Amino acid sequence: MSQVQLSVKNAVKEYRLGGLISGTTFRAVNEVNFELYTGKPEVFSIIGESGSGKTTLSRMILRLIKNDGGTIELDGKDLNRIKGRKGEMDFMSRVQPIFQNPFETFNPLSRVDRYLLDTAQHFFPDDPDPEKRVEEALEAVGLSLEEIGKRYPHELSGGQLQRTSIARAIIPKPEILIADEPVSMIDASLRMSIVNLFSSLKERFDTSIIYITHDLATAYYVSDRIAIMHRGIFVEQGPARGILENPRHPYTKLLVRAALDPSPDAEDFDYKPSRFEGEEFTAKGCLFADRCEEAGNECFHVLPCEVELEDRIIRCLKYNIK
Ligand SMILES: Nc1ncnc2c1ncn2[C@@H]1O[C@H](COP(=O)(O)OP(=O)(O)OP(=O)(O)O)[C@@H](O)[C@H]1O
Ligand SMILES: [Mg+2]
Repeated sequence: MSQVQLSVKNAVKEYRLGGLISGTTFRAVNEVNFELYTGKPEVFSIIGESGSGKTTLSRMILRLIKNDGGTIELDGKDLNRIKGRKGEMDFMSRVQPIFQNPFETFNPLSRVDRYLLDTAQHFFPDDPDPEKRVEEALEAVGLSLEEIGKRYPHELSGGQLQRTSIARAIIPKPEILIADEPVSMIDASLRMSIVNLFSSLKERFDTSIIYITHDLATAYYVSDRIAIMHRGIFVEQGPARGILENPRHPYTKLLVRAALDPSPDAEDFDYKPSRFEGEEFTAKGCLFADRCEEAGNECFHVLPCEVELEDRIIRCLKYNIK
């Protein structure tokens, strides 16, 4: 039996709305639940349109912001109870981020080998051979110190730089990597090769990867499980292939249809921006109801709760037991 490693339970993040209805709050992340398991590394992808709350959720898991409700635990310990330098270091060695823009990860004035060696020394101050750790991490992403070590960040291609930032993230041998849109700034032809790294890192280092993306195609190939996020809510989560080949939530159906239709007038799932104005944001009921082809009257009044449906968990009134 695998044990729960990361537990996200009813996680909530609230922000204040500006403008006309300033003073009211909305939930950027609204009662999100999921788990990762020790000894069962996975690529868990969180897919959703712009503004759906993906980065907010990842920042809570990285302890960069606090949750306003629910609990987030690593090995049974609430992240809000981690204290002191030792606690923080321990956490950082276990959960590492990979950011969207690799250029922001690096100090432009520092050579790549210096940066990686500093990282190794930071996490393993007593190790006499930090270079070995750096070589191993670079090798895992298809690079070497000989090839890139003496260069400065601007002397690497975008793809090489993102591989190097992934190498940096795996130096402490984290249990979990959180990659927020890691390939959206990378040339399309290189994206798949970088995303494929996640599968090999998962196997090699027993690391689970939370992969945050807009892109159904890369998520389909690399993910074990996926969660579809819409306006702060996980509307459907479960096995990647099962869900993408047989979507059940009307929003997932819309995403899959849009991804399969290459025509320029196909509904892009970012078509209606989710930077909702006013009431939409704080609307009662299902927040997808206004775009849903299957919505009934009650969908505009009742917020669905999560139900298990065969291989997945879904939040849609259609599947709620009446
Ligand atoms: N610090 C903040 N203060 C107020 N509102 C915020 C803050 N951070 C995020 N938001 C709002 O919360 C919602 C979710 O934002 P978030 O950045 O998590 O979305 P996202 O899914 O990562 O979007 P994208 O795909 O564009 O990166 C958005 O409406 C955003 O405007
Ligand atoms: Mg984001």
